[in-house]
Amino acid sequence: MEGHQAQGQAGHSDRTTQERFSAKGFIMAAIGSAVGLGNMWKFPYITGKYGGAAFFALFLICLLVIGLPILLAELTIGRGGRGNPSASMRRLSGQRKWGVLGGLAILCPFIILSYYSVVAGWTVHYSIKAFAGTLFSGVGYGQQFEELMSSWVPAFWQLAVMAICALVVGRGVAAGIEKFNKLLIPAMLVLLIMMMIRAITLPGAMSGVQYFLRPDFSMLTPTSVLAALGHAFFSLSLGMGTILTYGAYVDRRQSLSQAALAVTGGDVLYALLAGLIIFPTCFAFGIEVSQGPGLIFAALPVAFEAMPLGTLFGGLFFLLLSIAAITSAVSLLEVPVAFVMERWGWSRSKASAIVATACFMVGLPSALSVGGAVQGLSLAGKSFFDWMDFISSNIMLPVGGLIVALFAGYAWKQAADEAGLAGRAAWLWLALLRYVAPVLVMLIFLHSMGWI
Ligand code: PFF
Repeated sequence: MEGHQAQGQAGHSDRTTQERFSAKGFIMAAIGSAVGLGNMWKFPYITGKYGGAAFFALFLICLLVIGLPILLAELTIGRGGRGNPSASMRRLSGQRKWGVLGGLAILCPFIILSYYSVVAGWTVHYSIKAFAGTLFSGVGYGQQFEELMSSWVPAFWQLAVMAICALVVGRGVAAGIEKFNKLLIPAMLVLLIMMMIRAITLPGAMSGVQYFLRPDFSMLTPTSVLAALGHAFFSLSLGMGTILTYGAYVDRRQSLSQAALAVTGGDVLYALLAGLIIFPTCFAFGIEVSQGPGLIFAALPVAFEAMPLGTLFGGLFFLLLSIAAITSAVSLLEVPVAFVMERWGWSRSKASAIVATACFMVGLPSALSVGGAVQGLSLAGKSFFDWMDFISSNIMLPVGGLIVALFAGYAWKQAADEAGLAGRAAWLWLALLRYVAPVLVMLIFLHSMGWI
């Protein structure tokens, strides 16, 4: 029975792992996963909230000390195990319990995608309205955002986003995911640079640049440190099995440590450019940068309305956000799709269509709970949307990160070999995974639960 099952699973696994990324395609796809709403929407407002440039400096340190080692661990487990998170961990350790723990990393992206696609849908809606000129109609932007939230429109755009993701993932690793990212990631860079030039040449923009890049460490608090740690995790797409699953499609000859550095560098570059767009623009138009999640939707349009060619730049800005969000959403969908393909032997297109539909349905209450039809669906003061975000980002994500660190640090003895590390580099990597990452991840967890 056991043998038969193992054989069956190996047979199914061929279905997913016959597919491969090219070296460049993998870097583009992983940057596509990492660069998302986290960089363009969350990073600016938490940087504004937790201390500007000093917070940015902290974020960079966290990326290096904890983000990079765990990113490399995920890639290594994926390439070593050649499968979805659960199958890879079970194969490499030979123990069923690791397969069960890896299963968490399949549920988590599914839940994140259910509400991430909702926010992605808002950005698509804003982009279309901005290009059409109807966003800048003189009606208060806070009010416009509220009106959108109370309608069924978010559900429509969420469906559209899920359909795009299903089409891309359904076409396959090389023909779908890789091609999509190879086209859009460079396009995003061009758009970001254009927008940055526009932003930093606005009158009064320099005080925004200084706020973002000149650190004042007296503004930091212990809370900022933990927020920076948590964000480093989210921003690199860690703890959710996405990088691990992409790692399963990486060629044996590709250097994983170089790939991990390139992805981390890409994530920083795009966050830097996003900051150099948002802060100068806000300072030039007197917009308060510490106002939280509404910064981009309810406040920034004021600036686009007032600047020359604002319709074009506003449209481009929201288009950028949509691209960033959809390339990340694609990586989230790939995880459960790879799982059901391996587990039940479904074809890729069938798996993509069914998983995307299920995810849309689970996400529907999120789309309608931020002021819409099921606004009443709340528990302990949190809406359905907030609960999904809280459970996945604050609980499942740190737990996922911890599992990865412990697996590569302790359970799987050949991890350093597969990562291509030897000598001091291997020692340092394992020490970070064994001792530093678990402690820091526990701290993120306790902080996000409000216990410290
Ligand atoms: N890294 C993405 C962002 O910064 O928006 C979010 C994300 C995507 C998190 C994929 C996790 C993930 F698996």
